[in-house]
Amino acid sequence: MADAGAKTFYIETFGCQMNAHDSEKVAGLLISRGYRQVETDGQADLILYNTCSIREKAAQKVFSRLGQFKRDNGGKTIAVLGCVAQQEGERIFERAPWVGLVCGSASYRKLPQLLAELESGKRRLTGLSLDTEETFETEFTRRDNPFRAYITIIEGCDKSCAYCVVPMTRGPERSRTSESVLAEARALVELGYTEIQLLGQNVNSYRDPSARKWNFAELLSAAGEVGGVRRVRFTTSHPRDFTREIVQAIEAHPVLCNHVHLPVQSGSTAVLAGMKRDYTREQYLEKIDCIRCAKRAISITTDIIVGFPGETEADFEETLSLLDYAQYDSLFSFKYSRRPGTSALALGDAIPEEEKGRRLRELQARQRAIQERRNQSLIGRRFELLVEGQGREGQLSGRTSCHRTVNFPRNGSDNGSDKGSVKPGDYVWVRVTQAGPNSLIGEVEGGLLWGAMATQN
Ligand code: SAH
Ligand code: SF4
Ligand code: F3S
Repeated sequence: MADAGAKTFYIETFGCQMNAHDSEKVAGLLISRGYRQVETDGQADLILYNTCSIREKAAQKVFSRLGQFKRDNGGKTIAVLGCVAQQEGERIFERAPWVGLVCGSASYRKLPQLLAELESGKRRLTGLSLDTEETFETEFTRRDNPFRAYITIIEGCDKSCAYCVVPMTRGPERSRTSESVLAEARALVELGYTEIQLLGQNVNSYRDPSARKWNFAELLSAAGEVGGVRRVRFTTSHPRDFTREIVQAIEAHPVLCNHVHLPVQSGSTAVLAGMKRDYTREQYLEKIDCIRCAKRAISITTDIIVGFPGETEADFEETLSLLDYAQYDSLFSFKYSRRPGTSALALGDAIPEEEKGRRLRELQARQRAIQERRNQSLIGRRFELLVEGQGREGQLSGRTSCHRTVNFPRNGSDNGSDKGSVKPGDYVWVRVTQAGPNSLIGEVEGGLLWGAMATQN
């Protein structure tokens, strides 16, 4: 039970879902040690800052934010976690001597011990070893979302993409046993969570370390058979390790969401080789074909980097033509950013920022037209939604299994359903009435499918 005199902590998180979930685990760990979580840094005795280093802009923010923490919170304990912590290590103490702890994600298993030392007044503590076979599992995780629960199934990355810091910030790949993943999934369903999201930097590179030796498709199928679970998602899939078996698992298990995030990065085989992505344009497109041939329509989304060193106009055109072929349902696009310690540094950064900006705009315009067309074609279709919260203009908002956002009025026309009582966590059917490039508008049809229970943590 929270008591008013307990030590308090505030946690602020940047970066990917893995980081968001790590923060949930760290928060749970602190709560189990008697801390109370507060909403602002000003109220906290301990400030934790979980950082991202994927692009320069994200990393640059860190020291200015640390400066603010110091200015506003003189004398409080400040801990830097995550990928910038791992990347910068003890250099953080030089630039921000008011920081008490620097710990990368591969060392979170040491957090209980490091916290004990912090509590005893020690400072300048570090957890920076990458030499690990351990995963960070804890029974104390305090989840932010009451309906969707993340489960990390594999940590770290063994690939060596030329532009990317992740292998250096998160260490080598370590998978959890299938039994511990499934036990967590079952426990979450018991607590009232209906959507499980399996996480990994390359989630489909999963290799069960137990005697079962399951691959990702096998684990995914078993997750789809956990009693009571309504949706299972997974992210991010690496194209090289993406197999037909994964598509077959989705075909066979309706609770496995029909959405695959499959980052391509570039449509040019020459650029992919420079990026050390381990696949060609043609090999990637074979995976797309395999997904498109599934018995159940599966939506596909991707990540793209423009302006990687050496990317010619012709290479960029190949990325645009790949968009036309793949017909993605959504994409995240980025200008190439030089990162410390990556092998692409040796290639220089020859493409000017303005040119990267032009390519990014052109790419986004091309994709916007694709999404507009694809979404328009869904008008009149029915989708099951997990209601997530407030949408625009007083509407509610939810997600389809294929990961589209649908906004819908709280009180639609009267067709016999009890729409007034629809609330976040419920599942409802909606019929799509309007479509934009990034979201759909629909109306609830046929009443509540599933009412949310309050989760118990
Ligand atoms: N493991 C995933 C990607 C994780 S990082 C995969 O391999 O697909 C998330 C995204 O950030 C990447 O897909 C990439 O598009 C982008 N990214 C990573 N490093 C970058 C860099 N140096 N500059 C620009 N974008 C980058
Ligand atoms: Fe980075 Fe490549 Fe690993 Fe993805 S697969 S995290 S892009 S090194
Ligand atoms: Fe950022 Fe680290 Fe995730 S660099 S994207 S927080 S793995």
